[in-house]
Amino acid sequence: MNHVMNHQGTPNHQGSQSHGSTHHGAPAPAPEPIYYDAFELQIAPDMLAKLDMRRSVPMRAFDPAPIPAVELDRMLKIAARSPDHGRLVPWRFIVIEGDARRVAGERFDALYAARNPGLDPSKKDIWTLYMLRAPVTVVVVSRTDPASKIPEWDQMLSAGAAGMNLIHGATALGYAAQWLLKWPGRDGEAAALVGVQPGERVAGFIHLGRQTEKPADRIRPDLATVVTRWTG
Ligand SMILES: Cc1cc2nc3c(=O)[nH]c(=O)nc-3n(C[C@H](O)[C@H](O)[C@H](O)COP(=O)(O)O)c2cc1C
Repeated sequence: MNHVMNHQGTPNHQGSQSHGSTHHGAPAPAPEPIYYDAFELQIAPDMLAKLDMRRSVPMRAFDPAPIPAVELDRMLKIAARSPDHGRLVPWRFIVIEGDARRVAGERFDALYAARNPGLDPSKKDIWTLYMLRAPVTVVVVSRTDPASKIPEWDQMLSAGAAGMNLIHGATALGYAAQWLLKWPGRDGEAAALVGVQPGERVAGFIHLGRQTEKPADRIRPDLATVVTRWTG
């Protein structure tokens, strides 16, 4: 039996099959009441304010201080709480932090140099510098199952939702985020250098850190240009 709190805060009783006495006459133990958590019904002004102002912060404005593991785990848990048709978990996260950032960047640079023989020497370490800009990069990896009866499109969208939820989790914890693909995210061979497997695809390199400056917002779409009302 469930007890559901009504709007006055008094419990409503729902379902009564297991309540009362057993057919042997002994009183059944009263089940622990489960109250509808009023928190879920509350307006969350802080959360709304964060959502209202969320914007990407360029990585050049990130503080190099590492993100404590407990906070990073919390963001990742929020990211993993994303809509997922069929519960296939069609995504996973690769965390790159600390010294691994340099290792990843140097591998990218080596592949980039091999791909671009005439590369300007000033660009020989661009990906190392790129990976070192944020204390943590989370590679959101889409891993769809083409054989599943769940459409692949649904699975891909779930990876996008996970990426966005990661950003919202980071935002709630006071961190800035920038979602980029760039060359390492788009090139399968480059992505493989940081553990992306055949059949997987990078949904985003989500760079995270504390911001050191307040970036200007960009122009947001006017609702009138993106919202129509279907009236039949
Ligand atoms: C899947 C995806 C890939 C992106 N890749 C790039 C990229 O490679 N380079 C870039 O400049 N912006 C990229 N962006 C855009 C930025 O993450 C960001 O959304 C944009 O700069 C606008 O900022 P906002 O988050 O404040 O709206 C990408 C966004 C998404 C969703």
